Amino acid sequence: MNERPIGVFDSGVGGLTVFKALEAALPDESMVYLGDTARVPYGTKSPETVARYAREAAHFLARQRVKLLVVACNSASSVGLEALTAEVDFPVVGVIRPGAKAAVELTDSGRIGVIGTRATIDSHAYTHAIRELRPDAEIVSQACPLFVPLAEEGWTHDDVTYRVAERYLTAFEGVEVDAVVLGCTHYPLLKDVIGQTLGSAVRLVDSAESVAAEVAAMLHGDSSLSAEGTPRTADHHFFVTDVPGPFQVVAERFLGRRIERLERASIEGE
Ligand code: DGL
Repeated sequence: MNERPIGVFDSGVGGLTVFKALEAALPDESMVYLGDTARVPYGTKSPETVARYAREAAHFLARQRVKLLVVACNSASSVGLEALTAEVDFPVVGVIRPGAKAAVELTDSGRIGVIGTRATIDSHAYTHAIRELRPDAEIVSQACPLFVPLAEEGWTHDDVTYRVAERYLTAFEGVEVDAVVLGCTHYPLLKDVIGQTLGSAVRLVDSAESVAAEVAAMLHGDSSLSAEGTPRTADHHFFVTDVPGPFQVVAERFLGRRIERLERASIEGE
């Protein structure tokens, strides 16, 4: 039994999609969420810069005494989790492998689309992870960088968001993919727009639930779940690196409740 919280980290609001799945799968677990809103977006930055940001986030969360870290950001997960894992003394879980696994389980044809930030798409992390599980998979990838600011702004159903989606998702016209991986944790916030643009024949793959299942299995395997079998109130603490207001609006809308403990933190140079 381990009462310490789970750490969840993203550049902004995107990791909340993973937070929500974790909360549903592990309602007794406390969590510390960090959104690096002062430096969002990550997906347009170099691998070295994103790796440095991820290290600083991990060190900050280590000081919050987390027992496990979920890197709820594809861009950070795709630039090397190994180096991050070597720096901390708790397990680190990324989102790429669980997303690839979910995609391979969902596709019939083996033709899979991947959308993500430039950092994630350029890393080819999904292509490698999917091919490891299904070597004959045909993968078509498309970077959709404008989706992140639209999600951060909370423009989840606006005309402009539909227009942007139409332009990016023409990449899949004529390719007949039957599954598209939402390879950025911000994108499930735009699920309706993306789904309607791609049409009902295409299944959307959101890695959040697979990540939550992996975390649950790991904590169970290590006997490090909180208060096993004893109902209690989980305690969630949110940190952002810039003014909390905009994060709070989008987060409360997405989670459907008020966020009580939200603070600004500085993580630079951690
Ligand atoms: N939500 C993150 C991801 O999954 C980061 C997006 C960004 O900051 O560009 O890639």
